[in-house]
Amino acid sequence: MSDSLFVTVPEHVAIIMDGNGRWAKGRGLPRTMGHRKGVEAVRETVRTAGDIGIKYLTLFAFSSENWRRPEAEVTDLLGLLKAFIRRDLAELHRQNVRIRVIGDRQGLRSDILNLLIEAEETTRSNTALTLVIAFNYGSRDEIARAAASLAKDVEAGRLRAQDISPELINSRLDTAGIPDPDLIIRTSGEERLSNFLLWQAAYSEFIFLPEYWPDFSRDLFLSALEKYASRDRRFGGLSAKAAATGS
Ligand code: FPP
Repeated sequence: MSDSLFVTVPEHVAIIMDGNGRWAKGRGLPRTMGHRKGVEAVRETVRTAGDIGIKYLTLFAFSSENWRRPEAEVTDLLGLLKAFIRRDLAELHRQNVRIRVIGDRQGLRSDILNLLIEAEETTRSNTALTLVIAFNYGSRDEIARAAASLAKDVEAGRLRAQDISPELINSRLDTAGIPDPDLIIRTSGEERLSNFLLWQAAYSEFIFLPEYWPDFSRDLFLSALEKYASRDRRFGGLSAKAAATGS
């Protein structure tokens, strides 16, 4: 690993964990086995992120569109998330990890909602890695909820329409207070955002990996970070070199 990695560790990495089903299918296993293996990859990824000093790690655990999957698979995914929080919460807390959950909480089953709230409350004051779990999350839905909350304030006379700014919209998103992702990784060879962090991804770097999520390892994570470190991020301006040399 080159030294450059360690001077450009991204503050926020977001991951679309894709390919659990195909990983299982390729081994003649049921899809649920892919999700189970996927949870192990989640554990290793959280550990690695903490080790190397990433401050925010967002994982797309369950999208607002995932409810369309067969009932048995939805039940399995919800069960895995619940088991992960029940079993790993104490260890994550010990590691000083703070948990934040983004996504629509309206209409969630109370057992899931209570667990998510417990995870956030227990770890609220932790200061190492913030693990952001995107659950029942869809970016367009998030933006629509933020727009509705602003519209309500305008309707009530608390806000003038002309005062709506990108910063104000930011403050009404589920991700309020979380910096935009520097890097978004998607596994499984698919190259799209699938309604994930559309607003927040304005200047993110993207890395698409061919490996399926259950095969995502510390080494793959580190090599993605090394690739990120070599990118020239300009945020609409000039590269540091061009700005310095004027060419
Ligand atoms: C995509 O694979 C993955 C998901 C829909 C869910 C990801 C969930 C986990 C890894 C487990 C629970 C999460 C946490 C944070 C404990 P896919 O089923 O779409 O795979 P395919 O595209 O190959 O069918």
